[in-house]
Amino acid sequence: MNILLIGSGGREHALAWKIKESPLADKLYAVPGNPGIAEIAECVSGVDIEDNDALVKLAKEKDIGLVVVGPEVPLMNGIVDAMTAAGIKAFGPTKEAAELEGSKVYAKVIMRRYKIPTARSEVFGDLSRAHVYVRQMRTPFAIKADGLAAGKGVILTQTVDEAVAALDLMMKEKAFGDAGNRVVIEEFMEGEEASVLAFTDGETIIPMVASQDHKRAHDGDEGPNTGGMGTYAPAPVMTPERMAEVTEKILKPVIAGMKQEGRPYKGCLYAGLMITKQGPKVVEFNARFGDPETQVVLPLLKGDLVEIMLACVDGTLADKTIEWSDGAAVCVVMASGGYPGSYEKGKEITGLNAAKAAGSLVFHAGTKAQDGKIVTSGGRVLGVVGQGADIKSAVAKAYEGVDTIHFDGEFHRHDIAHRALARLS
Ligand code: AMP
Ligand code: GLY
Repeated sequence: MNILLIGSGGREHALAWKIKESPLADKLYAVPGNPGIAEIAECVSGVDIEDNDALVKLAKEKDIGLVVVGPEVPLMNGIVDAMTAAGIKAFGPTKEAAELEGSKVYAKVIMRRYKIPTARSEVFGDLSRAHVYVRQMRTPFAIKADGLAAGKGVILTQTVDEAVAALDLMMKEKAFGDAGNRVVIEEFMEGEEASVLAFTDGETIIPMVASQDHKRAHDGDEGPNTGGMGTYAPAPVMTPERMAEVTEKILKPVIAGMKQEGRPYKGCLYAGLMITKQGPKVVEFNARFGDPETQVVLPLLKGDLVEIMLACVDGTLADKTIEWSDGAAVCVVMASGGYPGSYEKGKEITGLNAAKAAGSLVFHAGTKAQDGKIVTSGGRVLGVVGQGADIKSAVAKAYEGVDTIHFDGEFHRHDIAHRALARLS
């Protein structure tokens, strides 16, 4: 069948790469895609990924049998609903189910209702009441804008002054627009983070191997928060016992809960977790694959991704078993100098073929083809993935790939997987 992939980042390049392995995949189209994806798919330009009608029209023209949605915005725009209404299968949650990511208040309501372990929290729509609350409590908080804020809507605060400033930024200065009309003030959780992605058809849940992201820009988890500077899988912090606990206490209740709410959730559910002294607790749910988690999880998937996605859409996931490789994968993000702040674009990238020839997977994220060259066009430029029998050899392989690639102003973290290496040694 023909497949249409929506999105343009490293996550989408990894999805495209795995989709192309499937014997079920005939022609792969990507909207808008990127130069890496263009090596294995036909990229379609001039179609807005926020325009459902245009996407449905394209899917009909290209005789698409399955649509795969990468980013959250089209999901929240109801692209899966629109495709389904047009008789086209689409992998991902409906608009109503995607609210689990789209509204942090909604996610908290669901977690409370279905007794899913998470940080204690209060919701405020009124700034002065929120001020009173943080002044009374005087503890560290995670203060979160309710709506989508491109991954920037969470501020961690230690002091009352910091909390007040964060509230003012969101609710008075409207730094995140309407996303900050309501805020969630959450208890600060201590622990190690992990990401567990799961396939689900709304009924059956099959977790993927656990991974760990590195959100801070610089080595030693210093510097500002980013979209993610690197990942590895499997994450040893998620022992088999903890995985079982996450499945029973978090994944199963949330999927059963969404069904009970009349918003059955299908697709990939991303649980961002904090492994606290009391056990794993939910930091956030995302309604999509993680970026750059996907870049390390999919290389470990032994089965046919298209077959699994179709089973999620068709409600037949219970018939499937999914196998994972025993090895490990590590992704190092190569970024533009200045990211996540402002940075220059248009820098020529060299060494891509050498890295691939040496056995790394090189996923494009912020690149552009220009005059026969590949140049930088975003903050996170590439995700270089090394695979190996264990984390240590996968780390070495990933950095070997990174060392062959160059562009002006490039920076990356040198300590991806440090927690895993410390735990394993
Ligand atoms: P989120 O966008 O909800 O994933 O939050 C961004 C980051 O903020 C997370 O990856 C955590 O590192 C941190 N964070 C969010 N909520 C909490 C919390 N309640 N306690 C501690 N850290 C948090
Ligand atoms: N890696 C974090 C995210 O995809 O939201």
